[in-house]
Amino acid sequence: MKVTVVGAGAVGASCAEYIAIKNFASEVVLVDIKEGFAEGKAMDLMQTASLNGFDTKITGATNDYSKTAGSDIAVITSGIPRKPGMTREELIGINAGIVKSVSESLVKHSPDVILIVVSNPMDTMTYLAHKVTGLPKNRIIGMGGALDSARFKYRLAEALEAPISDVDGMVIGGHSDKGMVPLTRLATRNSVPASEFLSEERLDEVLQATKVGGATLTGLLGTSAWYAPGAAVSGLVQAIACDQKKIFPCSTLLDGEYGLSDLCIGVPVVLGRNGIEKIVEINLSDAEKAAMQASAEGVKATNALI
Ligand SMILES: NC(=O)c1ccc[n+]([C@@H]2O[C@H](COP(=O)([O-])OP(=O)(O)OC[C@H]3O[C@@H](n4cnc5c(N)ncnc54)[C@H](O)[C@@H]3O)[C@@H](O)[C@H]2O)c1
Repeated sequence: MKVTVVGAGAVGASCAEYIAIKNFASEVVLVDIKEGFAEGKAMDLMQTASLNGFDTKITGATNDYSKTAGSDIAVITSGIPRKPGMTREELIGINAGIVKSVSESLVKHSPDVILIVVSNPMDTMTYLAHKVTGLPKNRIIGMGGALDSARFKYRLAEALEAPISDVDGMVIGGHSDKGMVPLTRLATRNSVPASEFLSEERLDEVLQATKVGGATLTGLLGTSAWYAPGAAVSGLVQAIACDQKKIFPCSTLLDGEYGLSDLCIGVPVVLGRNGIEKIVEINLSDAEKAAMQASAEGVKATNALI
């Protein structure tokens, strides 16, 4: 199993590290445009192999896509991250050009690749990857919902005063502060609805904290976060590589599902060796449907900028 990660910055390196530590891939190739940067990150990570006990071989390349040839999965994290006060949508001018050229180069050298798009604004970048590569829809996956759901579970566990392993919850919709739709109605603590333990007001606080989860960290760190994004990407890569058939909310091209078409947005999907193997349609309440509709309008407005 060969995995390429484009962008050896904060998220790319974190994702490569988690993939290696989980020890399911034979090879990870890091690519960056900055001379020597990916090679340096790869060497540093390889020097953790004997300490962390993994056999994955990590190499780096400066903008040389011949080194990525024959990749089964490629992750696109190249681009600029947001600074405090910025929205993800404001990154589009620079990141659209980067995601376009990177997607084309990846597919040229690995025609059978499954792409995972991380660069923001992620739903629009995933849509752009479809437009420029023409790959079948099961082979282009946007990562946002897996991270937003992890942040949702963190906030739920905090409110419930419960261990995170006792908590389940999912965020669908667009990967933006306004567009996220945390499904508080379906959140549970060990199969019991979270609403049995928390007031409507407290659940709404959890929802609001989840929606600004990325912005909160950007304010604290001065740039966007990387550990949870890297871990979320590694979870998707593992589900595909190990054919796990796990459900994650991912951004995918919709064709009538959830009453939406011609956009990529977060919905639950089954991930396995063929990428997105199924889009899971769950029954939403009228309020959730309205939130999804509003989220889709936001994503479409950003798509109109590419
Ligand atoms: N989808 C999500 O949930 C999520 C979460 C966190 C971050 N992000 C996004 O991921 C992206 C990366 O964030 P980061 O914090 O790792 O940024 P970063 O600046 O640390 O790393 C980005 C890397 O991309 C490289 N790069 C730029 N242009 C390139 C090109 N044409 N080819 C190859 N490499 C190139 C840069 O040299 C840099 O090393 C940002 O757009 C950020 O908004 C998305």
